[in-house]
Amino acid sequence: MPKTPDYFVGKTIFITGAASGIGRETARIFAREGAAVACTDVDADGARAVADEISAAGGDALGLECDVTDADHVRDAVAATLDAFGSLNFQFNSAGSAMRRCPFLEIDEDLWDRTFDQREARLHLHACGAAAPAGPRQRGVIVNVASMSVKRGGPGASVHYAAAKGAVTTMTMGVAREYANRGIRCLSISPGPIDTAFAAAANTPSELVQQFKNDVPMKRFGEPEEIGELVLFMCSDACEYMTADTVYVNGGGGWR
Ligand SMILES: NC(=O)c1ccc[n+]([C@@H]2O[C@H](COP(=O)([O-])OP(=O)(O)OC[C@H]3O[C@@H](n4cnc5c(N)ncnc54)[C@H](O)[C@@H]3O)[C@@H](O)[C@H]2O)c1
Repeated sequence: MPKTPDYFVGKTIFITGAASGIGRETARIFAREGAAVACTDVDADGARAVADEISAAGGDALGLECDVTDADHVRDAVAATLDAFGSLNFQFNSAGSAMRRCPFLEIDEDLWDRTFDQREARLHLHACGAAAPAGPRQRGVIVNVASMSVKRGGPGASVHYAAAKGAVTTMTMGVAREYANRGIRCLSISPGPIDTAFAAAANTPSELVQQFKNDVPMKRFGEPEEIGELVLFMCSDACEYMTADTVYVNGGGGWR
């Protein structure tokens, strides 16, 4: 929560992957706090549905199609956000997927490239790059989603994904330190298993989903709003000395 009441009123957040899961809940939480929300996703209908829901409840929201692997899409969506709301204070990069799970020796070049270049590392690069030019002119916070797998390595199913998320935490650190004196903070969150469409989107076998859960000391999946509330704190004036690092949210750990 912010130190200052109504801290988020009149400010704008740009969210990638806002049509589902963690991005969607974060959009709802920032709308609850009075922020204007640009809901963007490769799933344009899904993004618009979330924006419509927020607008119907009296909030300010814009639903935009944005494939974050395409730098032009990101640039256009950021421009549309600035046109609509006049400012961009926060960016939450939630878009992503585990693509396909498999043991290390079954990772082929195509899967590696699509995971590493297209989906995880590069998409955050495009998204951060589009927001960063606003940096010198205004204060701001960028929050990226990494994964608990950056600490575990994704043995048996997700080495490619874990490696790409490792790039996200490293890039976050570099962006944060480059902009530390210019009023821009950049952080990442490394969730454990969260109850969203994510596992199904990667065709994760049900035994593996069960194994993820058994491995968590709290014996449950996290809820997407449990990540969204942390994004809110990170973007707030209660968190002004924190930058560059990743924060683990995982019910005590797990997955080996
Ligand atoms: N759910 C988990 O267990 C978990 C754990 C650790 C990290 N994560 C990370 O959290 C983030 C959010 O995942 P989630 O759990 O909300 O999953 P989700 O599947 O519910 O939502 C992901 C959203 O990203 C969108 N997306 C995918 N590729 C995109 C692209 N190229 N451009 C724009 N949008 C795109 C999807 O359309 C979807 O709406 C992801 O980066 C994921 O890697 C999830």
